[in-house]
Amino acid sequence: MMRARRTVIATRVAALVAVCSVVVALTGCTSRAQEAASGSTRGFPANAIIGVALPDKTSENFAIAGQLFVEGLTKAGFSPDVQYAPATNTVAEQQNEIEAMITRGAKVIIIGAKDGSQLSTQVADAKRAGAMVISYDRLILNTRNVDYYVAYDNERVGELQGQALLAGMKAKYPDKTSYNIELFAGSPDDNNSSVFFQGAMKVLQPKINDGTLKVVSGQTAFKQVTTQGWLAQNAQSRMDTLLAGFYSGTELDGVLAPNDTLARAILQSVKTAGKPYPIVTGQDSEAASVRLIMQGIQYSTINKDTRKLVAEAIKMVSELQRGSRVDVNDTTSYNNGAKVVPTFLLTPQLVTRQNAAQSYATDPTLEPLTRG
Ligand code: BGC
Repeated sequence: MMRARRTVIATRVAALVAVCSVVVALTGCTSRAQEAASGSTRGFPANAIIGVALPDKTSENFAIAGQLFVEGLTKAGFSPDVQYAPATNTVAEQQNEIEAMITRGAKVIIIGAKDGSQLSTQVADAKRAGAMVISYDRLILNTRNVDYYVAYDNERVGELQGQALLAGMKAKYPDKTSYNIELFAGSPDDNNSSVFFQGAMKVLQPKINDGTLKVVSGQTAFKQVTTQGWLAQNAQSRMDTLLAGFYSGTELDGVLAPNDTLARAILQSVKTAGKPYPIVTGQDSEAASVRLIMQGIQYSTINKDTRKLVAEAIKMVSELQRGSRVDVNDTTSYNNGAKVVPTFLLTPQLVTRQNAAQSYATDPTLEPLTRG
C-alpha cells in the first residue's frame, strides 16, 4: 500500500520535472518540482494570518514571547494573531482560541500548549483546514497532526538543574559528605514538567541511591512533587508543610526547583520559617531571580533566551510560507506518542553568579542586573 502510494507520487514528480524542463525560464517551476521531490510543502501568501496560542503566563518567558511574536511576525510581513489562555478555564479557552484562528484562516498555528494532551481535536481541525501546526516549547502529545516542534532541550535543562544542585551544595557546605534535600516539579498537565524532572533525576537518583543525598520527606516520585498550574502559592504551601513536618531540628541543604517562579516561592517559605537559605535551582532567567542570584540567595537559573526561540519559530513560518525545506536538527528524539515530530532544538545554558554577566551579555534587560 505504502509502496504503491510512493510510486504514484514519484510518477507525478517525474511528470512535473519533465513539464518544467520545457518551461523552466518563464515559470521558475524547477524549484517547485525540486521541492515536491524533497517532500517540502507548497507555500502560502506572504501576508497570511499566523496564529500564536500561548498558555497562561505561568512564567516571564511566555509574557515576553507574545510581544516578540507580534513584532517579529509583523516585521516578516505576516498578520499575527497572538492569544493567551486566561488563568481560569485555561484548557477550554485555549481550545476555543485555536478554533477561532482556524476560522479566521490562519496558515500556521504556533501552539504553546496549556495541556499538551488535550489538543488533538483542534490540531486535527487545523490540518483539515490546511493550516500547519508548530508545537512551541511544550510538545503536543498523541496526535499525528503536529508538523514541527521548536524548543530548548528540556531534558538537558533538568540535567543542568541536577548538576547545579549538587555543585552548589558541595561549594556551600565543604565539610558535609551528605546533604538533605527536597524535590519540586512543575505542573503535571505540562509535558515539560516530567521531562525536566527526568533530566534532573538522571543526575540525582544515583546520589540518592548511594546515600550522598537524602530526601528527608521521602517524596521522590514525580506525582508527589508536582506543582499544579506552576503556581507559586502551591509550591510555597508545600514547602511550608515540608519544613513544618520534617525540618524542625534538621537542616535543609538544597531544593530542586524547576523554575524561577517556584524557586522564589520556596525561598520565601524558608525565609518565613526563619531558616537559612538552602541551595535552590531555577529556570527562565526571570529578572527577580537574576537579582537574587547576584545577591547569593538563589543559586542558579537556566538561560533559555526567548528571543532565540521565537526567532526560530518565525524562521520556520517563513520557510513554510516560501514552500522551502524546513530547517530541523533533530528527527529522532521527540516521539509524541503518535509520531516522531521533526524538531529544531536549542541549547540551554546554566547560569550562576559566576557566569551571569557573560551569559546575559547581549540581553539589554538582564545584563545591567549583573553589574556591581
Ligand atoms: C517552560 C518553562 C516554564 C514553565 C512554566 C515550561 O513549559 O518550558 O520555561 O518555566 O513552563 O511556565
